Amino acid sequence: MKVLVIGAGNMGLTYAEGMSKSKLLKKKNIMVLDKSEEKLEELQQMSHFDAFSELKDCVPQADLIFIAVKPYHAEGVFKAIKPLVNSQQILVSIMAGVTIASIKEITGLTKIVRAMPNLPAQIGKGLTSYVISSDVSRIEMLTVESLLDTTGKSIQVKNENFIDASTGISGSGPAYVFYFMQSMMEAAKQMGFSKEDSTVLVRQTFTGAIELFNQSNLSPDSWMERVASKGGTTRAALDSMDDNNVNELIKDAAFAAFNRAVELGKEY
Ligand SMILES: NC(=O)c1ccc[n+]([C@@H]2O[C@H](COP(=O)([O-])OP(=O)(O)OC[C@H]3O[C@@H](n4cnc5c(N)ncnc54)[C@H](OP(=O)(O)O)[C@@H]3O)[C@@H](O)[C@H]2O)c1
Repeated sequence: MKVLVIGAGNMGLTYAEGMSKSKLLKKKNIMVLDKSEEKLEELQQMSHFDAFSELKDCVPQADLIFIAVKPYHAEGVFKAIKPLVNSQQILVSIMAGVTIASIKEITGLTKIVRAMPNLPAQIGKGLTSYVISSDVSRIEMLTVESLLDTTGKSIQVKNENFIDASTGISGSGPAYVFYFMQSMMEAAKQMGFSKEDSTVLVRQTFTGAIELFNQSNLSPDSWMERVASKGGTTRAALDSMDDNNVNELIKDAAFAAFNRAVELGKEY
């Protein structure tokens, strides 16, 4: 199988590197195309994959075309590849808000996978949710899934509404975690810790809590019960969060991202 990645930015390169490291594909079967001269030089130096600047030189030989340009460049790329594609090719798009219907309409292709990754994909710890169009066979779906899994884990969702929903949870989610970390670091500094110590306190607390969660079958609720005893310090903090409706505010934030993803979907 030959894979072509169009757009060698943060995400495109993340997937190209993930596929190349995974040994699922041989180096000669990973093609990467970008329009900028600077990027092309960088790609040629990397030597993990074949670099291209012209669609006509790589699109026709690809079995799977992976598109990772910004959403506002999507239409231009779709129009440009249209005369070069054939009906057996699979197109995987990771572009936020770009719908399967619009991809089909402009490219004429019918085997479409729409995926939504997140930032930790860059270190192999990502979560990609994806949905397939009805023309994608089970075997093709499994192939695409194994390629997406080279950057972490993936889950298949029922329809595109769940892609927008997963944008609100896993897509934008890393920023919610950073937000919480930032607040805790600020609290530590207000208590008198240095910037360095505040960072260590918070980083190790998050790492430890996540490891505990990963190594057990307990829910976050059960862990909170274990940590918080009646009349104790943790209970005081959790009560303060409940009194301030923090739980509802976090859910509102996730829905704000979900709703924005739906809105963006109407733009492209
Ligand atoms: N970053 C994330 O965490 C994340 C998460 C979920 C989804 N996504 C999606 O991933 C996609 C890519 O995001 P990114 O952050 O990787 O963007 P990026 O770093 O800007 O990468 C896009 C690359 O594509 C190139 N490009 C633009 N038009 C092209 C064309 N016609 N042909 C070939 N290459 C072209 C760009 O070159 P120029 O810079 O010269 O324009 C750039 O090198 C976006 O659609 C985004 O919605 C990203």
